[in-house]
Amino acid sequence: MRVVTLDDPSDFDEWRAKARALLLADIEPSEVDWEGGGAGGLFAGDDSIPAPVRTSVPAVPRDFLNVASAVLAHTDRRRHATLYRMLWRLAHGEKALLRIATDDDVAWAHTCVKQVSRDMHKMKAFVRFREVRHGEDTVYVAWFEPSFDIVKRVAPFFVRRFTGMHWSLLTPSRTAHWNGETLSFGPGASRADAPTDDALEDLWRTYYASIFNPARLKVDAMRREMPVKYWKNLPEAKLIPGLVRDALPRMQAMVDKQPTIPKKKITPLQKAVAAAPEGSITALRAQARECRACDLWKPATQTVFGEGPVHAKVVVIGEQPGDQEDLAGKPFVGPAGKLFDRALEEAGIERDLLYVTNTVKHFKFEPRGKVRLHKRANAEEQAACRPWLAAEIDRVQPEALVCLGAMAAQAVFGSSFRLMAQRGEWIDLPDGRKAMATVHPSYLLRLPDAEAREAGYAEFVRDLGLMRGVLG
Ligand code: URA
Repeated sequence: MRVVTLDDPSDFDEWRAKARALLLADIEPSEVDWEGGGAGGLFAGDDSIPAPVRTSVPAVPRDFLNVASAVLAHTDRRRHATLYRMLWRLAHGEKALLRIATDDDVAWAHTCVKQVSRDMHKMKAFVRFREVRHGEDTVYVAWFEPSFDIVKRVAPFFVRRFTGMHWSLLTPSRTAHWNGETLSFGPGASRADAPTDDALEDLWRTYYASIFNPARLKVDAMRREMPVKYWKNLPEAKLIPGLVRDALPRMQAMVDKQPTIPKKKITPLQKAVAAAPEGSITALRAQARECRACDLWKPATQTVFGEGPVHAKVVVIGEQPGDQEDLAGKPFVGPAGKLFDRALEEAGIERDLLYVTNTVKHFKFEPRGKVRLHKRANAEEQAACRPWLAAEIDRVQPEALVCLGAMAAQAVFGSSFRLMAQRGEWIDLPDGRKAMATVHPSYLLRLPDAEAREAGYAEFVRDLGLMRGVLG
């Protein structure tokens, strides 16, 4: 057995360099015993890695490197060995390994990635910086106890968010420091190194109390999303028991104060139900093939109608078909569809249980040479297609609607709906159904940096996971 010592067991570059050296030396995974927390530089103690017998290693998919980098932040002691085994398998012909969700190594890696992403999401949501004055300087310091070694992965998010501040983020395993120009990392700190109170917190507490809506109090959801272990670092946490206690009387007061019954907002979709075409879903699909309500049918290959179980509990509504959907005649089969499928799988939802459709049923594009560039359907085109969507919902009779992107959300909730402010929560519709909106997978594909994409994807998976409560 060869003992390979890692100086920093969470460091991707170090593991990658050593794994690569092992691969070049043709050392099988079963011959390696990985040890974390060793002393020394990159190759210290690694006389156990013999000289290379190959000159290069086969290219591995980018996805694997992303998975490996997230998994290394986990605390599972098997992570170095399992990742090396996966790398070995990829390099020895199992090119599609990552797509085999039932493979033990792949399933384990995906679970780790999910847990690390969730931990990162919590850190982004629950870190609270406190003001500390050093003479003329003001530094903001936060203490946080993540479950995994995620500081290096999350710090760029805080750099983007608090670029103009000088701050230090302290955790038991690692610290991060931003001086307005440089991001640096140091060893772990203790809770005593972080201040516990400051004037800003009073302000924050006042704000939190003022935005707290007693009518929307869901204690279980709150505990799930804001686990009690984080409360001790949250200034607003002190208010929570009192706000919860007073929620019922405050809600009653709100109800008593309602001067009149508010006018129901009728969305364009509900209006369209009255004019929805008749017939079964199959009949509707056939009629929609001949739709001439706007001009989009002319350049398009075909109408892309919804598909899925006729009495699905959830109807998922996208925006409009893309190039590949237009050719296949099926919704969400192109790149956005693939991302949607992956996110559904991670959220534990079978696509086969959903009726998936679009707000607009034709591909709109602008020809550029051989390429057909996607163009957003305008308001008239969206309105012309509304009766089809209304008819699909009317025939399927789902319990819930899930909107992907602003176009679908505004079709369901009306044009005043603001996606980023109202995403990820069920909202009751006047017809007794509930609906939820989240981002469109194409939006995630367009995000320029990997960090934002990863965070956005994790939130997308979380939003989609809300469907589990409906699907049972
Ligand atoms: N985007 C959508 O909104 N729908 C599709 O069917 C494909 C991409």
